[in-house]
Amino acid sequence: MRAVDIIMNKRAGKALTREEIEFLIGGYVAGSIPDYQVSAWAMAVFFRGMTPLETAALTDLMLHSGEVMDLSDVSGPLVDKHSTGGVGDKTSLILAPLAAALGIRDPMMSGRALGHTGGTLDKLEAIPGYRTSLTKEEFKNILIKDGFAMTGQTKEIVPADRLLYSLRDVTGTVESIPLITASILSKKAAEGAGALVLDVKYGSGAFMKNADDGEKLARSMVDTGKAMGKKIIALLTDMDEPLGNMVGNFLEVEECYNCLDGKIDRLSADLMEVTLELAARMAILGGKAKDTAEARKICEAALASGKPKELFLANIKSQGGDVEKFLSLLGTYRSPHHAEIKAASGGYISRIDAWKIGHAAVGLGVGRNRSDDPVSPTAGLQFLRKSGDPVKKGDMIINVWGKDPASLDEALPRIAEAVEYSPSAPPPRTLILKEVTAI
Ligand code: URA
Repeated sequence: MRAVDIIMNKRAGKALTREEIEFLIGGYVAGSIPDYQVSAWAMAVFFRGMTPLETAALTDLMLHSGEVMDLSDVSGPLVDKHSTGGVGDKTSLILAPLAAALGIRDPMMSGRALGHTGGTLDKLEAIPGYRTSLTKEEFKNILIKDGFAMTGQTKEIVPADRLLYSLRDVTGTVESIPLITASILSKKAAEGAGALVLDVKYGSGAFMKNADDGEKLARSMVDTGKAMGKKIIALLTDMDEPLGNMVGNFLEVEECYNCLDGKIDRLSADLMEVTLELAARMAILGGKAKDTAEARKICEAALASGKPKELFLANIKSQGGDVEKFLSLLGTYRSPHHAEIKAASGGYISRIDAWKIGHAAVGLGVGRNRSDDPVSPTAGLQFLRKSGDPVKKGDMIINVWGKDPASLDEALPRIAEAVEYSPSAPPPRTLILKEVTAI
C-alpha cells in the first residue's frame, strides 16, 4: 500500500477501506508517513467527505492509536461534555466543577486553540503553574479527588488526534464533519466517560456556518457515538456572537471564575444560559434528574452553593497551579499593549461577528498561526456592550490587549469592523436551537 494512492482515491471521491485508513493513521503516528501526505489526505477528506462507515473506522482507529483509559474502578456516573468550538466558548471551565458538585465525575480531555476558536488547554495554562499534560495515574487520582480532571491528548492517549488536530489547525482542514466527529469522539471514548453532552455550535464563529450543517454534524457525532455504545445528547447552540464578555486565555478563566464566585456580569448571561442548559443535560445523563426542568433547578442550586468554585480552586492546586497567585492576578493580568474600541455609530449594537473577532483574537496572540507558535496568556478582548445594547457614537465598547504593539495595530480595524449597528433594537438571539439525541 502507498499513501499517495490512498490520497488519490479520496481525491477521486472513493470510500476508503478500513485497511487504507489504518495504513495512513498508523503510519502517521509511527512516523513513517510524513505531515505533508497526511495534510493532502485531510484536504481530500475536507472536499470529498466520508461515509458513515469510513467515519466510524477513522474514529475507532484514532481511539486505538493509543491507550484507552480504564475508569471502571472510579465510582459515580462518568459524564463529560465537549464543544465543537467557538469564540469565547469557555463553558467547560464552569461545567466541570458544577457537574462534580452534583456528584458526577467528569474526566475531561480537551484541545488547544483550533483555527479561530479558543482551546480549553490554552486557557487553563494561563493559570500560573497549571499542568494540562497529566499521566494516566494523575488524571485518575485527580478525577477521584476533585470530581473532575482536565488533560490534553498525549503520546499515550489518542496520539493520532494530538498530531492530526494541530496539523488541521494550520492546513485549512478543520471544518470537516467526519474529521471533527473522529477527533472529538476518539478523545471522548479514550478518556473513559460512558455518557457525553455535546455542544454543537453553528454560526459565523463556529466551524459549521448554518443550523443545517450544525445539525448534520450533531447527527454524525450522535450516531457514531451510539454505535460505540455511548449515551449522547447534543445541543445545537448559537455561535454567531462571542459567548460572554471575554475572549482570551486568562481573561476567559477570569470570567468563569467570576461566574463560579456568583459575580455574574450582565454580559455573561448568554454564557451562563448555555452552560446551565449543558449542565442540565449532564445531570440527566448522570441520573441526577429526570427532566430538564428538574435538572436546571439542581444545577442552579449547586452553583449558588459555592461548591463548584471550591472544586475549581481545588483542581487548580491538584494540577500544579498556584491558587494564591491566580487569585491575585484577577482583574489585573492583562498585556501592557492596550487599546479601546469606540462605537462608530449611534443606535443599537445589532451583532458582533464572532468569526471576525476570533480571527482578530488569533492575531492578538490568543491562538496560533503555526502549530509551534506560543500563545499569550494576557492577550484578548473584553466587551463592554453586546448585541441589543443601545450606544451613542464614541461610547467605549471593547477593551483590547495584544501580545505586542504590532498585533494590536493589525487587529483594531478588524475588531471595529466586527461590530454592526442598527437604528432599532435587534430581535433577541435564540441561544439553544434544538436537542439531538440517541439515548
Ligand atoms: N474540537 C475537537 O476536539 N476537534 C475538532 O476537530 C473540532 C473541535
